[in-house]
Amino acid sequence: MKKSNSILKIMLKDHGKIIKLLDDFESSAGEGSQKRTDSYNAFKWELERHFLTEETAIFTSYEPEDDENYKMVPKLLNEHKAIKELVGSLEESLASPGGIDISELKNVLKQHKKFEEESFYPVLDTELDSARKNSIIEKINEKMFY
Ligand SMILES: [Fe+2]
Ligand SMILES: [Fe+2]
Repeated sequence: MKKSNSILKIMLKDHGKIIKLLDDFESSAGEGSQKRTDSYNAFKWELERHFLTEETAIFTSYEPEDDENYKMVPKLLNEHKAIKELVGSLEESLASPGGIDISELKNVLKQHKKFEEESFYPVLDTELDSARKNSIIEKINEKMFY
């Protein structure tokens, strides 16, 4: 697999960025509320940008070859929905002085990331031809500059 032509490689980088922002948010728990709100917003923005890229540039370009793979996109879309709901529910806790429990979000997000990195993206990189992959990568890069 050519380095420049791997969707997995690009998405791994993005996933790392998101996990780092979630860690920043988690460690800001004891700090002033502005810092907590800022780190929450930074995480949320990056996560939503990433989901939008996956949903509009990647999932829509994938036509699975077998029944098992056909189930992957609906599974991932459902998980995006559940993760967005969890992130939204944390927003209410931002203004309160107590700690915020992000353990559930962390677990769900890590499972989602693992499935994409170990199952979905490797299949995508194997099944799609080079031209289609390049066109997806072009779309991903366009969205980076929103
Ligand atoms: Fe995803
Ligand atoms: Fe992802």
